[in-house]
Amino acid sequence: MNMNKDLRFNTKAVHVGNKADPSTGAIIPPIYATSTYKQDGVDKHKGYDYSRAANPTREMHEKNIAALEHGNHGISFSTGMAATTALFQMFNAGDHFIISRNTYGGTFRVLDEVLKRHGFEFDFVDTRDLSKVEDQIKPNTKMVFIETPTNPLLEITDIKSLSKICKNNYLLFGVDNTFMSPYGQQPLELGADVVMHSSTKFIGGHSDLLGGILITKDNNLADQLYFIQKSAGATPSAFDCWLLLRSAKTLALRFQRQSDSAFVLAKWLESKNLNRVIYPGLESFPQFALAKQQQRTPDGQSIFGSIISIDLGSIEYRDSFLSKLKIFSLAESLGGVESLISNPFHMTHGSISDDRKLSMSITEGLIRISVGIEDIIDLRNDLEQAL
Ligand SMILES: Cc1ncc(COP(=O)(O)O)c(C=O)c1O
Repeated sequence: MNMNKDLRFNTKAVHVGNKADPSTGAIIPPIYATSTYKQDGVDKHKGYDYSRAANPTREMHEKNIAALEHGNHGISFSTGMAATTALFQMFNAGDHFIISRNTYGGTFRVLDEVLKRHGFEFDFVDTRDLSKVEDQIKPNTKMVFIETPTNPLLEITDIKSLSKICKNNYLLFGVDNTFMSPYGQQPLELGADVVMHSSTKFIGGHSDLLGGILITKDNNLADQLYFIQKSAGATPSAFDCWLLLRSAKTLALRFQRQSDSAFVLAKWLESKNLNRVIYPGLESFPQFALAKQQQRTPDGQSIFGSIISIDLGSIEYRDSFLSKLKIFSLAESLGGVESLISNPFHMTHGSISDDRKLSMSITEGLIRISVGIEDIIDLRNDLEQAL
C-alpha cells in the first residue's frame, strides 16, 4: 500500500510520518532534540549530520503534511513568514511577481519593505479578476502568489483557472492555503505548483507554536527549497515539529467543527443588521458559488472555513463591543481551538498604509472573528451580549 496515495485524509493524518520508535516500540515517536549526530567515520553517517540540514522529527512532520496536501515534499520553517521568504529566495534581483492585493499584512510588509530593497518587483492585483492578472504579466514575471480566501476580506481566486494562465505563461504558481488548511482546499490538485501554510494557524491549531511549511509535487522545486532551508537556516525546532505532528492528527475534526460553527454564527450575524457580514458560506457573499465549488473537504463536501469578518461601523461601537466579550479574546492569529477576535486595521494589517487599507474597505470598524471549538451556544451568547 502506498501510504501517501492509497489512504484517506484522517488515516494519513494519524499515520504518515508517525512511525513507532524501533528501539523501544513507543507508539509516539520521540522528539529528536539534537543539534548534531555521531558519525562512524568521515562521510559515514546515518543520513543525518547536522540538524539545520536534517532532523528526524522534522522529517516526520514534513512527510505528514506533504501527504495531507497531496504533495511529494514538505519543507518546513520556523514561521509562516520564513516559509514565504524562502519561496522568494529562489529568485533573483530584477524578477517580477504578481501578488493578491489583499494579502496578509506581514506578507505585504516582507515583499514591499524587505524584498523590494533587494531588487524584486511586485504588483499587488485583485486576483478575483483573472484578466487583471493577465494584464500585469511582463517579460520578467516569474511567479504568481495568491492567498485564497484572503485575510481578512475573504476574497476568493479561482485556483484552477489561474493555474492555466500561469502554465500558458511559464510562471510558477504559489498559493497560501493557511485559511483553508489541507482539509478545506487542495491547491496542488487544482494546478498550483507550491502551497504555503502558516502552520501557526489551523495545522498547529492550539495557539502554542509558530511554524510554516511549503509543499510541492515537483522534485526540482523541492531540491531548491531544501537547499534554501538548510542554507538560510530558518528551520523549526524538533519540539515544534513534534507538536505539529500531534496536532495534524485532529486537523479534520477541528477544522470541520470550527467551520460548522462559523457557518451557523455567520447566518445568525447576518440577521443582526450590521454594516457588513463577510463569510464565503453566505448566499449574500459575492463569490459564494466559487467558494462552494473550490473549497472542499477531501470527501468532496463544500466547506467555508472558520473566519468571519464583520463591520461594526464606528470606532466607539467597535471598542464597546470588544470590551464586553468574555469568551472571544482580542488577539492576533486565528485557527486555534479557542475563539479569537481582532481588528485587522490596527493589528494584523497595521503595517499597511491607511489609504491602501481603506481602498480595499479594510475599515477601522472591521472585526475578524476566528471561531474555535467551544460550544456554539456560549459563543453566540457572548457575541449577542456584546452586540
Ligand atoms: C494568511 C497568512 N499567511 C501567512 C501568515 C504568516 O504566518 P506566521 O505568523 O506563522 O509567520 C499569516 C499570519 O497571520 C497569515 O494569516
